Amino acid sequence: MDREIVKEYSNSELTIVWKPKACIHAAECVKALPNVYKPNDKPWINADNATTEELKAQIAKCPSGALSYYMNGEENQEALAVETKVEVMENGPLLVYGTIEVKDKDGNTEVKNKTTAFCRCGASANKPYCDGSHVKIDFRD
Ligand code: SF4
Ligand code: FES
Repeated sequence: MDREIVKEYSNSELTIVWKPKACIHAAECVKALPNVYKPNDKPWINADNATTEELKAQIAKCPSGALSYYMNGEENQEALAVETKVEVMENGPLLVYGTIEVKDKDGNTEVKNKTTAFCRCGASANKPYCDGSHVKIDFRD
């Protein structure tokens, strides 16, 4: 099984964790903190351009769970168990919160934590997960 790609960006107190494969390109992060999230820059996240409190508040709003964080020095503390909840995003994926086991069409199973986005538009190249293609095809539902 592929190991999921995970990128980390730190300021002095906290480290932002970004999982590109989970990102559904809703750009909520860019709208909330344009000085931190600059999709055209490399690296595209600059954790020094906001306070730790601002970062925490914004990361909590990432709809896909692609963004998370840990406080520096507290690595390896996996997120606490979350209640399972399902939410339909307007014009976007189906979000499932909580720790779940996903069995794909070939019978492979994978455990997902926190938030998982499932494609609802049919256009994802990474089914059953959303890969942001709903934006490209202008999915409306
Ligand atoms: S899914 Fe999260 S990380 Fe991706 S663009 Fe949206 S807010 Fe940013
Ligand atoms: S719902 Fe996002 S790619 Fe289909």
